[in-house]
Amino acid sequence: MSFDLASRLAERRAASLYRQRPLLQAPQGPQVQVDGQMLVNFCSNDYLGLANHPEVIRAMQQGAEKWGVGGGASHLVVGHSTPHHELEEALAAFTGRPRALLFSTGYMANLAAVTALVGQGDSVLQDRLNHASLLDAGLLSGARFSRYLHNDGDSLGKRLDKSQGDCLVVTDGVFSMDGDVADLPTLCTEARKRKAWVMVDDAHGFGTLGANGGGIVEHFGLGLDAVQVLVGTLGKGFGTAGAFVAGSDELIETLIQFARPYIYTTSQPPAVACATLKSLELLRSEGWRREHLARLVARFRAGADEIGLSLMDSFTPIQPILIGDSARALKLSALLRERGLLVGAIRPPTVPAGSARLRVTLSAAHSDAQLEQLLHALADCWPQVRGDG
Ligand SMILES: Cc1ncc(COP(=O)(O)O)c(C=O)c1O
Repeated sequence: MSFDLASRLAERRAASLYRQRPLLQAPQGPQVQVDGQMLVNFCSNDYLGLANHPEVIRAMQQGAEKWGVGGGASHLVVGHSTPHHELEEALAAFTGRPRALLFSTGYMANLAAVTALVGQGDSVLQDRLNHASLLDAGLLSGARFSRYLHNDGDSLGKRLDKSQGDCLVVTDGVFSMDGDVADLPTLCTEARKRKAWVMVDDAHGFGTLGANGGGIVEHFGLGLDAVQVLVGTLGKGFGTAGAFVAGSDELIETLIQFARPYIYTTSQPPAVACATLKSLELLRSEGWRREHLARLVARFRAGADEIGLSLMDSFTPIQPILIGDSARALKLSALLRERGLLVGAIRPPTVPAGSARLRVTLSAAHSDAQLEQLLHALADCWPQVRGDG
């Protein structure tokens, strides 16, 4: 690191790794205005199309009229209001766990859970492709930190054998940049042999996996005995904002007593909790959203295969196209944008070196015609990028 910021920025630009923020000038949806241009949006995590749903908006408006706009204080002082409490109860029932605890962001929920559970003298074992917030949490905890090979039970087992103290195994449910699903039954079996606990961050699984949208634990039918710490985020499939940790009564009380990212922050606006209560209801009851998504995923994979694109091993709405080189990923993204399509290029350090990709995400709000538009554009643009190599 250096205070020579100009050089650091120039280096990043030269490596095709410079990041820019597209300016969104419309609500989330399949069609958005970005930097003055109308684009079909294939890079949002609003998988079910709930972020701009009229009933969710109305719930937030009514919530704001009743509860005001600010949380006002931390939960432990006077910021824990009735909508927060009702949402926690609803999330506990939804996940089939005794209790749930609400957080303002997924990043904070992950920091809170890991640092409250393990510290010096303990071990934290993480999938090497886990989300940055989990990796940061592991480092912050002070526990002995080790990363096992992606989704590899043997690699986890070897590290479990060498672990010290209490051991927490941590994995994404659906891997955010690859779209594949954690092999939870195997990971949980390995953990159980060594009396380790398992923590799953299912940010991208809630709403999209499981018959009722209950995520990866519903998909595999895993209870509290297998997954002791279950994290969900509310800014993706739920379409609102915030996150939760679900688990035993003792786990939640431990977080309330000891988790600094829970204790030392203002609660989220109660109106957001009102909106999430409504989106939870829609997420559970409107199974047609998951069914439509599954059809879109199948059609995208078949179409991409015909074009000769390299997809990843994913049946979820995250369908990355592997490119490898960052400059070529940027070029494909730019060519698609010229054709009215928004698909983000994901580059290192967000993904491992040499594995830049276009992260296509599908939403229940996409029409079949919008998906065909994407496939046509990819068929046109891909030869230009492939030809560069
Ligand atoms: C797997 C995963 N966990 C946690 C987060 C963080 O959640 P939040 O955006 O609510 O901070 C994200 C993405 O944002 C994610 O992809």
